[in-house]
Amino acid sequence: MLYAAFRSIGAYAPKKILSNEDLSTMVDTSDEWITKRTGIKERRIAADNEYTSDLGVKAAELAIERSGLKKQEIDMIVCATISPDYFCMPSTATIISTKLGLNNITAFDISAACTGFVYILSIAKAFIESGMKKNVLIIGAEKLSSITDYSDRGTCILFGDGAGAAVISATDNKDEAIIDVHTGADGAYADLLMTPNGGSGSAHDSLNPEDTSCFMEMKGNETFKVAVRTLTKDVVEILKENNIDSKSINHFVPHQANYRIIKAVGDALKLREDQVVLTVEKYGNTSGASIPMAINDIYEKGTLKKGELMLLDAFGGGLTWGSALVPFSPLK
Ligand code: ACO
Repeated sequence: MLYAAFRSIGAYAPKKILSNEDLSTMVDTSDEWITKRTGIKERRIAADNEYTSDLGVKAAELAIERSGLKKQEIDMIVCATISPDYFCMPSTATIISTKLGLNNITAFDISAACTGFVYILSIAKAFIESGMKKNVLIIGAEKLSSITDYSDRGTCILFGDGAGAAVISATDNKDEAIIDVHTGADGAYADLLMTPNGGSGSAHDSLNPEDTSCFMEMKGNETFKVAVRTLTKDVVEILKENNIDSKSINHFVPHQANYRIIKAVGDALKLREDQVVLTVEKYGNTSGASIPMAINDIYEKGTLKKGELMLLDAFGGGLTWGSALVPFSPLK
């Protein structure tokens, strides 16, 4: 029987910091409001000539190096992004594969917003367990600053840029295996969070030169309530189905959208503070990159140890949601 093991993690955060104080000179907001309502203090912003694929490559190089595998052993790349280098084509995954010097392998993107990393984890698991691939590089990469409206205080305070990557490999050792991944979606809530312009369904007028934006729009307060409900329900289910007590989770790694959402879910699950991984303060919401960036944070702090169990939990535009029970199983 083939299983899928989570071998390594890597991440990259662009150098430029956009603080709450910086934002308060751009829109009618304040450090106090943003901190109290979201827990975010600052976020990273990619340089003009730094694309989503460049962020992804930097995270991927670290993940490959830490996996102990040779680069050429990677046989598939899947990238989760809602801010690809180019809308429609080519995919960011194909650009990343070429920048990594990995041509002639399977590479594609998926769009599941902030749940993207859990979705690509499920894809890697399925390809590996079916025997179709052996070593899958999964990458969540976002240059959200390219689709953020910096005149809208309801959204621009939340989002930042970054990337995280992981290598998922085949193993015959069940103890190393990813235990379970849940994914779900409900398009009935699509209008809560969307980029309404730029697609075939948009009201966008391509003949109007001023009507060119492809920015995110969000009904923040409604999204907040659905987020708390959905995130809690999904983790309760995955723990119950796998007969795992929340006390035995070493690291709860939720999507880093808002501290208040994370706190509400953590409290509902009766998690201790030391179980909950938080990076929202320094990176804000980096959508598909947020969970792997948070895993990388505990890895680099030395608090993520071989064999420890992570519970991932995500929620995002679509609406989409997902959770996963993942032991950290490095080769070395
Ligand atoms: N600064 C100051 N005041 C503000 C700001 C701001 N940046 N933004 C909104 N306000 C005001 C509003 O205008 C409103 O004023 P009013 O009472 O006079 O009308 C007041 O603050 C309250 O606004 P709410 O929208 O109700 O504030 P809320 O507490 O809900 O916080 C926030 C807003 C932070 C956006 C929150 O709703 C949130 O985090 N939502 C969920 C985001 C999320 O999880 N998204 C999903 C994932 S993202 C993805 O998939 C890409």
